[in-house]
Amino acid sequence: MPDKTFRRHTITSALPYANGPIHIGHLAGVYIPADIYARYLRSKGEDVIFVCGSDEHGVPITIRAKKEGKSPQEIANKYNDLIKQAFEDFGISFDIYSRTSNEIHHDTASDFFKTLNEKSAFKEIESEQYYDEDQHEFLADRYIKGTCPKCGYLEAYGDQCENCGSTLSPSELIDPKSMLSGSIPILKKTKHWYLPLNEYEPWLRQWILTDHQEWKSNVYGQCKSWIDQGLQPRAVTRDLDWGVPVPVEGAEGKVLYVWFDAPIGYISATKEWAEKTGNDWEPYWKDENTRLLHFIGKDNIVFHCIIFPCMLKSHGAFILPENVPANEFLNLEGNKISTSRNWAVWLHEYLEDFKGKEDVLRYSLCANAPETKDNDFTWKDFQAKNNNELVAILGNFVNRVLVLLNKYYEGNIPEVGKLHEIDTNLLKSVENAPKTIGKSLDSFRFREALSKFMDVARAGNKYLADTEPWKLIKMDQERVATIMNLSTQIVVNLAILAEPFLPFTSQKIFELLNIGKLRWDDAGRVDLIEMNHSIDKPQLLFSKIEDSEIEKQIEKLKSTQAENSSEQKDIPEITPLKETISYDEFMKMDIRIGKILKAEKVEKSNKLLKMLVDTCIDTRTIVSGIAKYFKPEDVVGKQVSILVNLAPRKIMGIESQGMILLAEDHDGRLIFISPEDAVINGSTVS
Ligand code: 2FM
Ligand code: ZN
Repeated sequence: MPDKTFRRHTITSALPYANGPIHIGHLAGVYIPADIYARYLRSKGEDVIFVCGSDEHGVPITIRAKKEGKSPQEIANKYNDLIKQAFEDFGISFDIYSRTSNEIHHDTASDFFKTLNEKSAFKEIESEQYYDEDQHEFLADRYIKGTCPKCGYLEAYGDQCENCGSTLSPSELIDPKSMLSGSIPILKKTKHWYLPLNEYEPWLRQWILTDHQEWKSNVYGQCKSWIDQGLQPRAVTRDLDWGVPVPVEGAEGKVLYVWFDAPIGYISATKEWAEKTGNDWEPYWKDENTRLLHFIGKDNIVFHCIIFPCMLKSHGAFILPENVPANEFLNLEGNKISTSRNWAVWLHEYLEDFKGKEDVLRYSLCANAPETKDNDFTWKDFQAKNNNELVAILGNFVNRVLVLLNKYYEGNIPEVGKLHEIDTNLLKSVENAPKTIGKSLDSFRFREALSKFMDVARAGNKYLADTEPWKLIKMDQERVATIMNLSTQIVVNLAILAEPFLPFTSQKIFELLNIGKLRWDDAGRVDLIEMNHSIDKPQLLFSKIEDSEIEKQIEKLKSTQAENSSEQKDIPEITPLKETISYDEFMKMDIRIGKILKAEKVEKSNKLLKMLVDTCIDTRTIVSGIAKYFKPEDVVGKQVSILVNLAPRKIMGIESQGMILLAEDHDGRLIFISPEDAVINGSTVS
């Protein structure tokens, strides 16, 4: 199948949730590779539609709306506008950026569900789910908080604990509470529609594990692991009042699960595009000669490789994805990008701070794309990529050629003469460039493709350095004419090959050369610009980014970090809860206040302190592992809490009779549990 030639291409990129802006992680993982690919195919003259839009349903939007005291639609409108504009300004070349709140989408998703329902593709299952009796609402997983059963964190959500990262289901939470009213939710029966993924397992094994072994190994591996673990039926409806209503009688108050309707959004977006442009949407989704590609991040793999294909397969009228080139994650300055902690570089802010430098971010994110593993974005690296690569290699070559053309020929292209070996070698590498770069792009190796593109500029610089036209100009004008003609041809090639990666730069080079846009298949030729053609005055393509600009960005992140760490003081790392004990068990402990009379280090141990304590009943010896934290002289005279009925134990040959109680904070600091005011030794603690 990978060798099949397709007549057209439907490229989708994950619909971003309209509950926050776009950040560099989204760009590097999804939108830049998708855009490069769409631009590359268009430049090759292929029939391409590139669709995206806002994912406006789901609980994240309702939560944000509640927080801001707005309606979910108001939130979706706000972020849809922000995201759409930022993508446009950044040159992401969607043919359509749609929205899942559009009528066309509601109709399409609703019809899709009806078709599956009529085909009896769903199982209707009644189960017990948490219900808030005060609010009269079933609670989405995110609306339930409780104690994490894995780590004891008190604020875990019904679907995930943010302290230990465990995936949870609401029924696992200890002491669940409704986030809507704070009340204790009850379990109440509700009916939902389930897609029985388990029934698709044999087909999925064949379709993915056998027929699509060419998929990226991270994608293939994740699919295999999901399938091998055994697939379960998945509910595709929810009790919620925000989303596409379930189009079945008696299903009032229920909507399609956001992950059911969102991928159908790709189809609705194509329909909207077709309506707007007078095209037919159907071939893009129904013709076997169409290649469907989903560009996504790794957290979306199961939805695009397993669930959506099962939905499409079950529906029967649609093609299946040919490939899903998902990427891993991009980190920022060593930490996971996080919207809630504001740990991100936001696209709309970048565009404000670095006006005219869209391609610099496109370049650095593509060069650093998390294609096979998670990667890190740092501002220093961003600066280095601009200054040492875009300015020093690409910009430098194009500028030198244009300046020399102006200087020697008043901007008119000179005639090419007899070719030397150095010229033919150069021409060969240029001739091969579109093929070799294309090969990398065809297999979704965008970093490699970009690096091969830069090799063309590198070759150009080397050619000028080796031929030194500035030295020859006085002695051999014919030779200089050839060198400058060929160098200009390389600049034209760079303009063509840059288009998918650096569209703003590509356009600027075409403008400086004063020629119309050329296509991918023109690249490789060295007769693209004619003798005597007159070019424009040179202008720099890139400019150096100064340390001060980078420091400003780093400072911005540092202040975010400072804010976060002051907030995080409230969220210590929690030690797992111990087993519950009875009151009687607790009462067995005899804890009393005693005074440390003497203290000394235990010989040959750097951890242990041997202390003599007065408990009022007796004077006893206690050995404790606190020598790293306290000097003997610091503890003498202190009143502390002592578990006096702990069975004696021998520690390094010394009998320890009891235990001194200490609190340990999450940084590992130890603090005695001492009475606030002096009390009589022997006072009991309970
Ligand atoms: O993860 C996300 O941001 C989702 N909104 C992606 C949806 S992709 C598609 F299915 F629409
Ligand atoms: Zn936890």
